[in-house]
Amino acid sequence: MSPTYFSYPDPTAQAELKATAEAIVAPGKGILAVDETNEGIGNLLAKIGLENTVNNRRRYRQLLFTTETLNEHISAVILFDETVHQKTDNGTPFMELLKQKNIIPGIKLDKDVVPLFLSLDEVTTQGLDDLGKRCAEYKKLGCRFAKWRCPLKIGTHTPSVQALNDMAQVLARYAALCQSEGLVPIVEPDVLLDGDHDIVRAQKVTEGALATLYKALNDHHVYLEGTLLKPNMVTPGQGSLQKNSPQEIALATVTVLRRTVPPAMPGVAFLSGGLSEEQATVYLNAINQVQLYAPWRLTFSYGRALQASVWTTWAGKEENVKKAQSELLKRTKANGLASLGKYEDGSVSTAAGKKSNYNANHKY
Ligand code: 13P
Repeated sequence: MSPTYFSYPDPTAQAELKATAEAIVAPGKGILAVDETNEGIGNLLAKIGLENTVNNRRRYRQLLFTTETLNEHISAVILFDETVHQKTDNGTPFMELLKQKNIIPGIKLDKDVVPLFLSLDEVTTQGLDDLGKRCAEYKKLGCRFAKWRCPLKIGTHTPSVQALNDMAQVLARYAALCQSEGLVPIVEPDVLLDGDHDIVRAQKVTEGALATLYKALNDHHVYLEGTLLKPNMVTPGQGSLQKNSPQEIALATVTVLRRTVPPAMPGVAFLSGGLSEEQATVYLNAINQVQLYAPWRLTFSYGRALQASVWTTWAGKEENVKKAQSELLKRTKANGLASLGKYEDGSVSTAAGKKSNYNANHKY
């Protein structure tokens, strides 16, 4: 039934949300996603022989945020709760440091996944109960946007209608709550790389997921100009024997977006989902070279594809900090260029550039 009553945020709130969303996807810039949970970052610390302590997690994030000229190609960072409250060695709060660098801080708000009862081994994302209150708190602490991820698995009979509708409703409720407290919601429906499906199936599933999501956002009166989308790129599954060119991947991805995402939404910031650093850059570049009209900015919001070489190079040692920071800058520059369609394939080489970042059931 069509609604007899609805409203949008007041004009001042709309203007603030829109300005923030647009600043995050400013030309040549993208997002550094460093919102790994304590458990997630623990796996990375273990790989370089470090204990998963509050201080080691802080030291790693300090390395990232103290990188000089980070803001040249990074407009925003996504943080995990603990990081919001941490400081550098010399006592500067991370939030203050980011502000000085003109980098917009955001917060991961989802509380991870739990099984979706009676589904086909699918999941739902938790964290809605106290969300309005948490949004207000993070806004007070200086966060200006948020992220919430809902994973969807491709299988013979999945994603199910149940899982698709659940994803859309959860993301729409989250988005509305964010906007009610002045945070720009990044909505992240993540169609996973896991599986042996081909690119055609990945395209159809991503199309269905985005169409369902945008209907729900509309139903919840979400102000699209003050939101961002963080989707997967459309690729064959990790286990597929099919290999597609970056141009085929780019065309499938842009085709899906054109069919499902309203032009009012200012920007798409892709996740890297297990792609290697170089793949993530090359695909983004190809996406920006597709000869079809695309009304949104198309950029990056990478976790693994911006940090894999940093981890390898740092190895937990103080003497490697500068070198690790330079690896980070190489990748941010490559992706900044790719977001403009100006990256030359293979022109940037980093320690873990070609290494796949995929692992089954990845823990964020
Ligand atoms: P990846 O780029 O590693 O998939 O991380 C994206 C993400 O959702 C973290 O915010």
